[in-house]
Amino acid sequence: MLYYTLVFLFISLVSCQPTPISGPLITPLPQTYTFGSGVIRLNTGFFDIAANIESDLLNNAILRYQKLFFPFGVGYPTNNPIATLNIKVSSDSEILQLYVSENYTISVEMVGQSPQLEIIADTIFGAMRALETFSQLISYDAQSQSYSIPFVPIYIDDFPRFPWRGLQIDTGRHFIPTSFLMHIIESCAYSKLNTLHWHVSDGESFPAESKSLPNITLGAFGPLAIYTIADMEEIVAYGLSWGVRVLPEFDVPAHSFSWSTAFPGIMANCPGDSDLDGWPLSPALPEAYDLISKIYTDMSEIFIDKYFHSGGDELPYACWDNDPVIANWMTQNNFSTTQAEQYFEDQITNILDGLQKTKVIWHDPFANGCEVRKDTVLQVWDNAQMAQQVVNAGIRAIVSYDWYLDMQIPVPGHTHYEYEDTWLDFYAADPLMGVTTNTELVIGGESCMWGEQVDHRNFDVRVWPRTIAIAERLWSNENVTDTNKALTRFDPFSCHISNRGINSGPLYPDYCLLTSDFSQYSHQPRFKLTKEQIKNIYNSQK
Ligand SMILES: *[C@@H]1O[C@H](CO)[C@@H](O)[C@H](O)[C@H]1NC(C)=O
Ligand SMILES: *[C@@H]1O[C@H](CO)[C@@H](O)[C@H](O)[C@H]1NC(C)=O
Ligand SMILES: *[C@@H]1O[C@H](CO)[C@@H](O)[C@H](O)[C@H]1NC(C)=O
Ligand SMILES: *[C@@H]1O[C@H](CO)[C@@H](O)[C@H](O)[C@H]1NC(C)=O
Repeated sequence: MLYYTLVFLFISLVSCQPTPISGPLITPLPQTYTFGSGVIRLNTGFFDIAANIESDLLNNAILRYQKLFFPFGVGYPTNNPIATLNIKVSSDSEILQLYVSENYTISVEMVGQSPQLEIIADTIFGAMRALETFSQLISYDAQSQSYSIPFVPIYIDDFPRFPWRGLQIDTGRHFIPTSFLMHIIESCAYSKLNTLHWHVSDGESFPAESKSLPNITLGAFGPLAIYTIADMEEIVAYGLSWGVRVLPEFDVPAHSFSWSTAFPGIMANCPGDSDLDGWPLSPALPEAYDLISKIYTDMSEIFIDKYFHSGGDELPYACWDNDPVIANWMTQNNFSTTQAEQYFEDQITNILDGLQKTKVIWHDPFANGCEVRKDTVLQVWDNAQMAQQVVNAGIRAIVSYDWYLDMQIPVPGHTHYEYEDTWLDFYAADPLMGVTTNTELVIGGESCMWGEQVDHRNFDVRVWPRTIAIAERLWSNENVTDTNKALTRFDPFSCHISNRGINSGPLYPDYCLLTSDFSQYSHQPRFKLTKEQIKNIYNSQK
């Protein structure tokens, strides 16, 4: 037995080894880049970022990165030539929507004695992606306390493989404070994810304040576990300032039991089903649609993205079949349960049409045989065959199968000695895996962090560094799949975002130079032992 354990250990340790890489370590890997062997020395005091357009959002990004470029404070020596990073953006539009260009180029070269540093992008959001990449070109030497850009000249031409690159979070199962949601948005932007899919409510709680239905938050976990309208607006605006769309999800008809705290009459009655979380709204009551319409109207003012997620997943048909009122209504309308679901979904479509929102739902109604309008986006959690059927029907798909961060074994049959190594499964899952025709209708994907056992206490360590693998598959060229090379880049990237406050751990044995080791912790009040006390303690143990 011991022998097998050792063999297994050995296999798990050698199965993925970092490959030495010469050149800049950038994550996600850019589409194309070249580099040389020169060095440009940088100094914080003589470094400037300039843009050719006026944009508050871009200015914010510049202010942020002016700090993020130099996480270890002022560097030495101070007599370096002045360096200016020039940002040239074609459009000053600040509108962030799906399909906005995030393309950019970076060039870093010496012309005579002067560094020439340039970012060119179509949009300010492309410039934001470029700033993040640029930050990864800067290296810090702790010994000499100096910054430099090695591997000069560097030329990067980069663009995302997919326009929809998301992280889904769940505040229905656990309330996550607003400030931490902003932290999550930052972590998305660092890895070039551009969509925060916010599954706001679920069966367990309804944490969002509504202008027209103030008592809907009776369904929250408590009076402090509520997002006010101002909180939600702040999140959306914060997302914009990092180039991250915030897509809300208010899940109906199932996963909506929390709605019934304020409106007890609207649920299907299914006493046989003990899983309250899954209880659906009744499709037979005009009051239910009226309620959804009011909530969606309020929320669509706050969540300005053109897309709106109405859930639609895991409708327990038996709950509708076994409720005598609903069963009677279905008979009167000559509806099968699927037709009742179709009727329900059609009402939701009408509501969202009225709000000029494009509907996003999980693939379930489609799988159940409902007709889904072609402008809908279907989020596929099931498998590649389902994704293939969706795109064959001419409907856009975002994929999440194989990317469930809550699962110990995200791919059946794959086990790892270390939980963190599930990143290998996420990395192996090409977003198109299995989809062979109509591939252009797969517009991206999302990793899903369901919240049953996750809140802000353990969010970072559950999501990072594993989501880096997914972010790269959604951004980089389809042929960037080598796990050993990925490991070489992901580990320093994990360290890089750790220095920005994301608790992203290591993937293999190495050293991560953390600013917090030198500044933050040393400012904590701590009663240090004197040498004398240490000696006494040792002696006392003899
Ligand atoms: C971004 O660049 C790629 C590759 O050159 C190109 O196919 C794509 O159309 C560009 N995207 C936009 C929005 O301009
Ligand atoms: C919530 O408010 C609505 C009116 O908007 C009212 O009809 C309903 O009874 C209230 N619910 C509770 C539990 O007070
Ligand atoms: C009820 O629906 C079935 C199948 O959809 C259809 O064949 C039948 O004509 C309908 N009956 C009425 C009374 O509408
Ligand atoms: C990936 O590699 C295959 C095989 O070499 C090639 O046909 C394909 O064009 C490559 N894809 C991209 C996006 O470069």
